[in-house]
Amino acid sequence: MRRVKLAPSILTADFARLGQEMASVDGLVDWFHLDVMDGHYVPNLTFGPDVVAAVRGEVETPFHVHLMIDNPLEFAGRFVEAGARRITFHPEVTPDPSAAIKEIRAAGAEVGLAIHPDITVETVRKHLSEVDLILVMTVRPGFGGQRFMNEMVPKIAEVKGYVEDEALDAEVEVDGGVNLSTVNEVVAAGADIVVAGSAIFDGVDAPAAAARLIERLEGLRVGNE
Ligand code: DX5
Ligand code: ZN
Repeated sequence: MRRVKLAPSILTADFARLGQEMASVDGLVDWFHLDVMDGHYVPNLTFGPDVVAAVRGEVETPFHVHLMIDNPLEFAGRFVEAGARRITFHPEVTPDPSAAIKEIRAAGAEVGLAIHPDITVETVRKHLSEVDLILVMTVRPGFGGQRFMNEMVPKIAEVKGYVEDEALDAEVEVDGGVNLSTVNEVVAAGADIVVAGSAIFDGVDAPAAAARLIERLEGLRVGNE
């Protein structure tokens, strides 16, 4: 039985102390989830490759960059150079998702597809076998601290169903509004990794918040391998 992994999103961390905030949970968590936004695909603007490179040296935990931008291929390579091990993009903004997946992989990163709440699994189903990760969004992309969208839970199970039925390699990750009140149903629906931003960095004690979530995930072990 394995523990579902935890990927803190730094979106609600204190950007004035970003390196220290990340270092405070480094070694506790499995990934850092870095939300890149361009003010076009989503109505918010966050940070670029230079910020990712600046914090790369502060921690050991691998980086997963979630590109909420209109032209992911224009920047994917620079985020890999900045230290991203995994790059996830939204397929509806690319003319040829399969080509984008190949290009990001060729740049040296693992590749994920993010499914916006308004996008059905059917529209991206043919790409599920091409990626290392499928990110099911349970909030509308753009901001941390939003309410969890319960209506997205069946979508998690639908994606997990395809992964299991077709013996795909992809991990299923859930992103948005995950906290101690919502994590149980997210894991029950099939998540392999959960993103948590405000649940970890909104309070005063990120390590304690991360430890509470990990303790809960320990109690929710999944699988039979
Ligand atoms: C939203 C981002 C999420 C968000 C998660 O556009 O993709 O990763 O930061 O933050 P919480 O956990 O606070 O919803
Ligand atoms: Zn995200």
